[in-house]
Amino acid sequence: MLANKTFYLFIYGCQMNEHDAERIVGLLETYGAMRVDSVEAAEIVVFVTCCVREAADIRLMGQAASIKNIPLPADSTLNKRIVAVGGCIGQRDGLELLEKLDNVDVVFGTHTIDQLPGLLIKAASDHSRSVSLLEESAGFASDLPSHRKHTWAAWLPITTGCDNFCTYCIVPYVRGREKSRTLEDVLDEASLLVSEGVKEITLLGQNVNSYGRDLYGSPQFAKVLKGVCDTGVDRVRFATSHPKDLTDEVIALFGTEANLMPYLHLPAQSGSNRILREMNRRYTREAYLDLVRKVRQANPDISLSTDIIVGFPGETEEDFQQTYNLVKEVGYSQVFTFIYSKREGTPAAEMPDDTPREVIQDRFDRLVALVQENAYQQNQRFVGRWLDVLVEGPSKRDPRVFTGHSPHNVTVHAKVPSGVALEDIVGTMVQVRIDEAKTWYLTGEVVGE
Ligand code: SAH
Ligand code: SF4
Ligand code: F3S
Repeated sequence: MLANKTFYLFIYGCQMNEHDAERIVGLLETYGAMRVDSVEAAEIVVFVTCCVREAADIRLMGQAASIKNIPLPADSTLNKRIVAVGGCIGQRDGLELLEKLDNVDVVFGTHTIDQLPGLLIKAASDHSRSVSLLEESAGFASDLPSHRKHTWAAWLPITTGCDNFCTYCIVPYVRGREKSRTLEDVLDEASLLVSEGVKEITLLGQNVNSYGRDLYGSPQFAKVLKGVCDTGVDRVRFATSHPKDLTDEVIALFGTEANLMPYLHLPAQSGSNRILREMNRRYTREAYLDLVRKVRQANPDISLSTDIIVGFPGETEEDFQQTYNLVKEVGYSQVFTFIYSKREGTPAAEMPDDTPREVIQDRFDRLVALVQENAYQQNQRFVGRWLDVLVEGPSKRDPRVFTGHSPHNVTVHAKVPSGVALEDIVGTMVQVRIDEAKTWYLTGEVVGE
């Protein structure tokens, strides 16, 4: 029933959703459905949604409603386009979504991806509208087929869910409790990926550092990370690492494993101890800075990035100054800055929140200016160096220029060498001599040119 049906995917949110989307594509393709790259060409539309901030919620409503006016492909045998909403909003709102959006046929959650083909088949055959949600997944659904976006890079989820309950965050409510995959399972998949030619593996989890606590009684992230490095894959990365659980053992690997990339995303969220307490982050500013010191000791060339929330309920100018100073002191290569967004059902949504919007916006703007300055300064250290770049494809502006990422996760642009076809180097590692460093990218020449 899904054979030769065309489908389009909207993907929002974090890498977990990116990975879930790859599994959805893999699953639908095993039923014979075909992915297309526009809504116009699609008989089925699937939304993989995010609700971590309000903006993401609003986007779904607009986009789901707007596709109503797009006619079905002329050769479709359906009499209506089938629309499915999954991911974190699906999990949070369930049945309510069918009430809010009258063109939605199927709602599925973060634990019921495997049921999607059945639900779509049902919707196509009897026009029924259905919701499939589970409070919690029984285990770690690792056996669904996956269709990787790139053949050379792979996400490898090691945990799902989150037990941390930061007071602002909805993720634990929509992704459920933290569950780890067995060490064996992760290492088997890593070896399989390497044998398929994957060059870069990114271990995924909301807090990878607590990997294994549910299975083995204590966190085993260092072990799984070392095991994946030992497969010999060119590049290993991971996200996200909660500062409260980052161990010395894991930090040491940055000094010893050549294929563990010199880049660490370590979300600070705030630099004020009072706000960190209110956020339930369970570390102090001092403990965070101590981690940064240790990480840089293990590998002085490491690049750091972080997430910062501006305007958490009750944040004063002094609290903000502490955040600003922390960002300045650490010297991040990249900071993901967010204005606090109230999420119903979280503890922070109940906290008094009377800081005027303009004040928060002003803090945000000051922080962003600092972040850009830092990023520019951090990038200067690469000028004159030769960096390995994993080639991803043509740059947006110029087809003769390719784009890729350096070990430090900085975007690099360089001319495709003369006499070389870009297709032939996509997914391979080339050496680039860096000539110029801008705020968000580096440019250079392929070595030997
Ligand atoms: N598990 C990861 C990231 C989860 S969400 C971690 O703990 O780091 C990604 C980022 O979104 C968070 O780090 C946080 O900075 C931001 N975020 C989460 N909830 C938010 C909210 N209610 N308002 C604004 N930003 C939020
Ligand atoms: Fe959200 Fe905190 Fe869990 Fe990250 S660690 S997903 S911010 S609750
Ligand atoms: Fe968003 Fe869900 Fe990820 S809420 S950030 S897609 S876990």
